[in-house]
Formats: sequence, structure tokens, C-alpha cells
Amino acid sequence: MSAHERLTELKDRLEAKTRLMQDVAHELKNPLSVIHGYASFLSREEVAPEDMKKALRAIHSNAERLIAMVEQLQDAVRLENSDFAVDTHAVEGAALIQMAAESAELEAARRGIRLRWRSPLGDSLHCVAEPKRVLQVLANLIGNALKFTPPGGSVTIEAGTGAGGGATVRVRDTGLGMTGEEIAVALTPFGQVDASRSRWREGTGLGLPIAKALVQLHGGRLEIRSAKTLGTEVTVVLPQGSEVSDVHRRAAPRDAAHHGAP
Ligand SMILES: Nc1ncnc2c1ncn2[C@@H]1O[C@H](COP(=O)(O)OP(=O)(O)OP(=O)(O)O)[C@@H](O)[C@H]1O
Ligand SMILES: [Mg+2]
Repeated sequence: MSAHERLTELKDRLEAKTRLMQDVAHELKNPLSVIHGYASFLSREEVAPEDMKKALRAIHSNAERLIAMVEQLQDAVRLENSDFAVDTHAVEGAALIQMAAESAELEAARRGIRLRWRSPLGDSLHCVAEPKRVLQVLANLIGNALKFTPPGGSVTIEAGTGAGGGATVRVRDTGLGMTGEEIAVALTPFGQVDASRSRWREGTGLGLPIAKALVQLHGGRLEIRSAKTLGTEVTVVLPQGSEVSDVHRRAAPRDAAHHGAP
């Protein structure tokens, strides 16, 4: 690479970082403004008990959203700096899938979406993984499927044993879908396929690239198949024990997280 090309690359990266900072500031400001507004309201003297409850609920949920966003940002930075280790051990994949699906049930009902999951429950779905991180991946995939599927649609989670052992999990929805180009955008940090449709659905656009990086850190892979208006299917393959022999895996320099290979 010539000095000029290197300079251009650095300039592009700097510009991308500036855009990221703008997006982050915007995303953090929304819930903070809500918290600020309700806190001012509560600091007034006469507040009816039911108004107080409503305000406290709004403060609580917006504070939770802020914490989740800050944690996502921390994950993204650590992944980009190759400073992320997964602490893997043998786990029962089916139980994790059930946990992720059950915690999405309320949200699915609220959105009028049918949520189904099929997994060989009772059968074993052995994989080697860090449960917290697998749940993080599944929560984002199921959350996306629910966010980008209109009411009346369905989200299906299927799990099984992969060809070479390990676990395969598929999250399929009947939602808005994406073109090939849009999938590439979706996998870029802060990439939201259609700003107008994503803006009113909360999120920073970090979930999918983080999910992919986390799966890769496990030695697995994450693939997306999608068709506009028909829906999306995301497949996660987690390897069986032998492929992840070391207990701690670290991101290889400039690997998975942000600009890395699929
Ligand atoms: N199942 C899906 N159907 C349609 N579009 C999707 C789907 N999953 C992701 N996308 C698109 O990809 C974008 C990036 O997804 P990602 O999970 O990274 O971000 P997000 O859900 O917007 O925010 P976050 O996950 O950080 O809270 C989404 O904003 C959306 O435009
Ligand atoms: Mg998401």
C-alpha cells in the first residue's frame, strides 16, 4: 500500500469514527432527555401518586436502555481492540435457547407477533460456549426479528445439531427483509438499513456486528439470508468441543469485530 493509499484509508477511518460519535451522542441523548424531563417533573411539589409511578417507570426503563447501550459500546470497543475473551465451557444449548425465547415472549405478545421455538428439548444440544454471550447473541437476533416484523407476522427459532456436531440455531422472521447490500450495511457497526424505518425502532445498530464477532470468537459462524418483504433467517453455528480446545479465546488482531472478515 502506498503512502497516499494509507493516508486515504486513515482519513476514511477518522471520518467514520466522527460519524459514530455523532450517532452515539444522538442515541444517548434521547433516553437522557426523557430521564431529565421526568426527574424535573418529579421535583415539583404536587405530583399525584399515579403520575409519580408513571414517571418512575419511564425513568427506570430509559435508564436501563442507557445502561444497555453503554455496555454495547464497551463491547464494541473491546472487540475492536482485540481485548475480548470468551470464557467457554460445555453447555446445554437447548436450555439457553429456551431461556432466550421465553424472555422474548412478552415482547412478541405486545407486538402481536407469533413466537415459536422448536428445539430438541430433552435431547442434548451440546456446544462449548459462554452462556452469557450466547444469550446476548440470541437476544439481539430475536429482538431484531421482532422489531422488523409487522404485527401479525411470526418469528420462529429452530435449533438442532450441526453437521459436524455442535449446535445450529436459526432465527427466522416474516418481516421486512433485506437486500444483499442491506445485509452488508446491517453487519457494519451502527449500520441501520433504512434510517427512516430504524429510527422509530430503538437501537444503535451495534447488535448484529457484535453478535457476529461474538460467534466468531467462539469459533462459530453467523450467516444471514434475507429477501425484501419476505423475511430474514439468521443462522448461528457453534462448534462442538474439539474445535474450541482452549478455555479462553481472544480476538485475533483486527478480526471479527468491526471491519473484519465474515
Ligand atoms: N431480522 C431483520 N429484519 C430486517 N432488518 C433487520 C433484521 N435484523 C437487522 N436488521 C437491520 O439491520 C440493522 C442492524 O441491526 P442491529 O441489530 O445491529 O442494530 P439495531 O437492532 O438497529 O440496534 P441494536 O441491536 O444495537 O439495539 C437494523 O437496524 C435493521 O435495519
Ligand atoms: Mg439489534
